[in-house]
Amino acid sequence: MTKPPIGRKLGQKVKSGKLKASSRRWLERHINDPYVQRAKLEGYRARAAFKLLEIDEKHQVLKGARRIIDLGAAPGSWSQIAAKVTNSTDEDIRVAAIDFLEMAPLPGVKILQLDFLDDDAPRQLIEAIGGTPDLVLSDMAAPTTGHHRTDHLRTMHLCEVAAYFAVEVLGPGGHFLAKTFQGGTEKELLDMLKRNFKQVIHVKPGASRQESVEMFLLAKGFKGRQTGVSEVQDEPAEYVDERESWTEDQGR
Ligand SMILES: C[S@@+](CC[C@H](N)C(=O)[O-])C[C@H]1O[C@@H](n2cnc3c(N)ncnc32)[C@H](O)[C@@H]1O
Repeated sequence: MTKPPIGRKLGQKVKSGKLKASSRRWLERHINDPYVQRAKLEGYRARAAFKLLEIDEKHQVLKGARRIIDLGAAPGSWSQIAAKVTNSTDEDIRVAAIDFLEMAPLPGVKILQLDFLDDDAPRQLIEAIGGTPDLVLSDMAAPTTGHHRTDHLRTMHLCEVAAYFAVEVLGPGGHFLAKTFQGGTEKELLDMLKRNFKQVIHVKPGASRQESVEMFLLAKGFKGRQTGVSEVQDEPAEYVDERESWTEDQGR
């Protein structure tokens, strides 16, 4: 497991003042979140860093990666990790990050401020790293509208487009990791990943808030494109469900 969080005293309250109750609750949760404190101490731009690090600790997705694409990258904690593991430098860029939000520069990372759904995004991403990626990461979450079903469908769509992109661009043996939602992964998408990767895993890292429907889909060991995306006839992948017991209405 990752190290226990250290830092400021937890359990702090925020004075009611002018804040709306929901904003106060958010702020309280944020300042008392041990992962937020640890991210600050360890120099990560977001607590999301620990989701990737925890998944990696168990499934070794980063080991040996030479080129990484990070989809939905802002503010940039996954890209920070990606630049480190690939030894990416500004002279020899091995990490491409895309987000429609502005992201502060990071050494060794080519940042594209662009919608991943833009037709030209795949070409620009591949061009940025100058070769075949061995890891495609997606932490993309659609901006929330407040309408649960709409938000859910939009993020699931991003996950699906990211998965087809990964199958188009990954080198053999490469991995794909993407944010998805509990209960949301379409059978068709799961079947496609199982055909194209050796192992497919649903995982909920400790850093992903228990009350959130967020989880991650990890597809390991890309089989390659020899026979075309939809025609791979190899044995289906091993499927592992690592989510803890979960009920449909948790986190809604
Ligand atoms: C949870 S954040 C990513 C955090 C990031 N992994 C980190 O470690 O800092 C999700 C990001 O996905 C981005 N996003 C959502 N839809 C996108 C799209 N269509 N194209 C590019 N970025 C997108 C959002 O703007 C947001 O910054």
